[in-house]
Parts: sequence; C-alpha cells; structure tokens
Amino acid sequence: MASIWAMETSIRRRKPLAGDLKTEVAVVGAGMAGILIAYRLQKAGRQVVVLEAGRIGGGQTRNTTAKITSQHGMFCQKLIQNLGRERARQYAAANEAAIRAYRELIDSRGIDCDLEAKCAYLYGVDREALQREAEAAASLGLPAVYLEQVPLPVPGAGAVRFAGQAQFAPLRFLAALAEKLTVYEQTRVLRAEGQTLVTDRGQVQAEQIVFACHYPFINFPGLYFARMHQERSYVLALENVPKLDGMFIGASSDACSLRTCGDLLLMGGESHRTGEDRQGGRYAALRQRAKEWFPGCREVACWSAQDCITADGAPYIGRYAASRPDWFVATGFHKWGMTSSMAAAMVLEDLMCGRESPYAAAFDPGRVTLGLLPGVAEESVQAARGLAKTFFQPPKERTILPGHGGETAVRGEKAGVYREDDGKALAVSLRCPHLGCQLTWNPDENSWDCPCHGSRFDKEGHLLSGPAQKDLRKR
Ligand code: FES
Repeated sequence: MASIWAMETSIRRRKPLAGDLKTEVAVVGAGMAGILIAYRLQKAGRQVVVLEAGRIGGGQTRNTTAKITSQHGMFCQKLIQNLGRERARQYAAANEAAIRAYRELIDSRGIDCDLEAKCAYLYGVDREALQREAEAAASLGLPAVYLEQVPLPVPGAGAVRFAGQAQFAPLRFLAALAEKLTVYEQTRVLRAEGQTLVTDRGQVQAEQIVFACHYPFINFPGLYFARMHQERSYVLALENVPKLDGMFIGASSDACSLRTCGDLLLMGGESHRTGEDRQGGRYAALRQRAKEWFPGCREVACWSAQDCITADGAPYIGRYAASRPDWFVATGFHKWGMTSSMAAAMVLEDLMCGRESPYAAAFDPGRVTLGLLPGVAEESVQAARGLAKTFFQPPKERTILPGHGGETAVRGEKAGVYREDDGKALAVSLRCPHLGCQLTWNPDENSWDCPCHGSRFDKEGHLLSGPAQKDLRKR
C-alpha cells in the first residue's frame, strides 16, 4: 500500500557504506528531518554524512499528508498549560519560521514540488472550545481567527483558520535537497560507542552525531522509551471529489484530516496507539466516512503512517542527554513532521555550530514541564501492562483461521501465528526484541505491533520499524 508520493517520485539510489570513515557530523536517518538537518549543516560549512538503514525518504516521510503548518490541531491551550507561556510562544514562533524557511528554500533553489499557499482550518462543532483555541493561538502570535462556518460537509461546524500556511509534494522536495549530500543507504546503525557509530557496513567516527531516525533506538542514556509512544493513522486518496480550498483537521480525536492534491483529496484519520488495533476495521471506517461526506468518490490509493508522541506534546530536539554533549536528537514530531523537521534543522544548526537558538528551550529534550509527569506515568503503566502479558499470562491454545493472525500456543509456548490462505502457519515469538513487551496482531495491516513503544514486524517477523533493531525469533 504505497502513498501517492511514493508512486509519483523515484529518488536516486545511493551506495551503502563500504568500510570505515571519519567525518565532522554523522546524521542517522534520511527522512525529512535527517536530510534537512544535513543540508543546513553542510551549507553552514560542516562536513556531513547521512546513514540510512533503508532508502532516502523510505520511512514516515513518504506517508505524510505533507501539510506545512503551525496549525497542530486543538493544541495551543494544551501547549500553554504543558510548557508554560514562554516556551509555547517559542514553539509557535519556530513553526511559523519553519514555514518561511520552506518557502525561501524552495524559491531560492527553484525546487519543483507543487508548493501551494493554503489556509489551515481546525474544524469542530464545539464552538466555544474553538473560540478559546483561536484566542490561545493568537496570544502566542499565530495567525489565527475564529470562523462561524467551515467549507466542509460537517453539519454545524465552526473553525479556527490559520492564514499563510502551505502544502507540497514531500518526496520531490526531499529528492532535490538530498542531491548534493553524501548519503549511504542500506546502512543500518547498530549501536553508538562514544563518537563511533557501528553499522552493519563499517564504522563511522564523527565529532557530532544526530539521531534523526524517527524513534531514537539508543535506550541509555536518554530514556526516550519512557517518555514517548507511537500512534498509527490511515489515509485514503480519493478522486471524483469536490475541490476543497484549504487544509483541514478536526478538533475531536476521531475527526479527519483533509487536503487536496491536484484533483485528488487526501482523507486521513482513525488514529490509535500502535499495538491497539486488535479488531481492525480502520480503513473500513474511513471509507464509510468518505462515502458519507463525498458521495460518488473513488479510492485510488490508501496507506498508513506512524508518529511519535511525546509526554507533553512538544518534540524532543536538542542534546541527546547531558552525559553525551556531542550527540543530538530530533524526534517526537506528533503528527506534524514537516514543520517539526524544519524546526529541528534550524535549532540543531544553531546548537551544533555553537550559536544560541531562540527556540531551543521549547524543544529541549531535558526539559521538565508540567505536562511531562502525567505522560511519563502513563507510558510506565503501558509498559508494565505489555511486560506483564509477556511474563505472567500463560500460553493458551487458540484456533487461527486462514487469513488471520493471533496469539496461541506452539509446543506449549506462547507464540504469534499467522495462517496463510493455504493453511500454512507462520509462527513467531510474541516477545518484542526492544524491551520485551508482548506484541499484538494488527488485522488492518497484517503486522505484529508493540503497544509499549510501537515497534512493528511483518507476518513473518521481519522488522518493519523500530525502536526494535532485530527481527522476531521464529517459533
Ligand atoms: Fe519497546 Fe516493543 S517497542 S518493548
């Protein structure tokens, strides 16, 4: 299930690392964040290499809806409460600066990536809540106004409108930007030892290291697993639809995201914590809503995305940990990877070149904020649950029908089994190789997903996405 971006763009292949090398800066991850960080640092005169386990843009960048916006849902009131007003203002300013930086970069390099100016709308039926959100956003310096009506088929909905936002084709932008960078594809970083990255193709020694690989897989120091989880959401590309003028996101947790893309409409939603989709039916629910809102629409593509959610809602961008002053991180972009990637590149360029960043405090991975503690407590409860299932729930034999997956017992031990249509069983260990939580079956995507920190594996147990670094054991 490839996204429309993956279908329309082919990015030039790069060779894997061949042996050891030394560099000033090594960036782990060649998604939007990694490439932007590398690009800005190289432009600032640094010698940079990028190490990528798969392909450039092959992770979550190809699954985005590619809105370049500081409109991050029903978020500003929560942001002020969680971070405090000063940091919330920095967060808002960084995102507005990120939009300008995209425009300048695309204009100055003449990148053909369908950049279009758009307004962003937060829509919903609770008008008082929307009015409060518009006031909170405006108080942070964001270009927000409350509107009584929104141009969408949602009865009784009002909106908060942000002016001066944008949308684009992300992989075309990424391909152009990566062209002059040194990127090693198919090169997986296995571990970091001081200033050395050990990969499956050789070792890279770097004065500074940036982890921009979606979810930082080094557990200690940093403890990112204790203060972040992942969520999945689903997208349909529809044709034969009305042309909507703007980008839209619903205010309630079950609402949809919408944006046009040429003659198509991208409709996203059905978000859930990774590992919590036992019943499935996410695509079906989205298709049903598409039919109700846009009768006569036809689906041309569908895909899913995965996002890192931090304990207080703001990304972690800055020094990886106090004990590693030359390691840096960019993660936890919530569902707003485009502006957050550019904000990360701006903040890290300043910090890594020894300059002050006007936005660093808002994103500081070592921050202690009011919103952090409840989030960390919730992550601990989830991890305890996942571990308890692994260690204290005895194996139970169950029948797994063809075309289905689930937990059962194999030779007296707990296992995950997917049964092919011809009856053949694929059995894997249900113990996540990251920190040991019990995996669950995702019937929408035929994958084994971890509810603790969001690692995913295909039906045969091959690693799809981390923080886990290894495949599942076969049973
Ligand atoms: Fe951490 Fe599975 S992703 S235990």
